[in-house]
Amino acid sequence: MTIQLTNVYLKRDGSPILKDINWNVEKGEHWVLFGLNGAGKTAILNLLNGYHFPSSGVVKVLGKEFGKVDLREHVRRKIGLVSSSLQEKLYKTDSAYEIVLSGAFTSIGLYDTPTDEMRQKAVSLLESLGALHYADRNYETLSQGEKQRVLIARALMNDPEILILDEPTNGLDFIAREKLLETIERIANTSKAPTLLYVTHHLEEILPIFKKTLLLKNGEVFAAGDTSEMISEGILSKFFELEVEVIWSYERPLLTKKKVLK
Ligand SMILES: Nc1ncnc2c1ncn2[C@@H]1O[C@H](COP(=O)(O)OP(=O)(O)O)[C@@H](O)[C@H]1O
Ligand SMILES: [Mg+2]
Repeated sequence: MTIQLTNVYLKRDGSPILKDINWNVEKGEHWVLFGLNGAGKTAILNLLNGYHFPSSGVVKVLGKEFGKVDLREHVRRKIGLVSSSLQEKLYKTDSAYEIVLSGAFTSIGLYDTPTDEMRQKAVSLLESLGALHYADRNYETLSQGEKQRVLIARALMNDPEILILDEPTNGLDFIAREKLLETIERIANTSKAPTLLYVTHHLEEILPIFKKTLLLKNGEVFAAGDTSEMISEGILSKFFELEVEVIWSYERPLLTKKKVLK
C-alpha cells in the first residue's frame, strides 16, 4: 500500500478541515483528487508530506506511519511535489538549473555541493522535459508553463515513489496545458513511474492514465473508486447538486450544465 488514510480528521483553529477521511492508494495506481475550491485537497497533500499532523486517525505513507517515524526524514524525500505554494517559496533569482538541482537536497536554494551525478541528472531531466534551452534563465523570467516544467524536473531529482501535482495547469493557456498533460502522461508511462496524484477542479484534465478518482467535498470523501464510475452523470450531479452532463471525448471527460427545459 502506497498511501493509507484511516479515519483521518484535521482541525485548524478549532474547525474541521478534513472529516473521517478513508483512502487507500495501492502501488501502481494513479489517482485524481477532484473537488471544488476549499474542499480540502491541498490539506490532504499536506498530511501526506508531513506538513500537517492529523488531529486524529492514522496516516501511513510508503509503509511508514505518521507519528511513529519522522516522516520528513523517511518519506518526504520520496515524494515529489509540484504546487503553486512551492513555486512562491523558491528563490526567483535562481536559475532553472539551480532550482532543479536543489531538488536533490529537497531544499529551497542551493547550499550543499551537488555531485557530478546530480548535475548530470538535472541536465537530463531538463532535457527530457523540453526545458534545457532555458536552464540558465532566472526562474522569475520564465512563463508559467516553463516554470511548471522546471518544478516537475525538480520533483523528479530524487526518483520519487509518489509524484504530487497540485493544480499544475493553473494559469496555463490551452496549448501549454495540453503540452503539460502530454508530459504527465509520458511520465506515467515510463518504467518505474512514480505513483501520480493529480489534484484538480477541472474535469477535462483527467487523463486516461488516472484510473482512480477521489471526489472530495467539504472536507469529506464524497466517493472514491474507478474513474469510469466516479465521473458519471449520476454521481457528479449529486456531487455538484446540479444536473450535469458528461461527454467523453478522446478518453477525456467534458462537463456541461444541463439546461432545464420547462
Ligand atoms: N492554516 C489554515 N487555517 C485555517 N483554515 C485553513 C488553513 N488551511 C486551509 N484552511 C481551510 O481549509 C479548507 C480547505 O483548504 P484547501 O485544502 O486549501 O482546499 P483546496 O485545496 O481543496 O482548494 C478551506 O476552507 C481553507 O480555508
Ligand atoms: Mg488547493
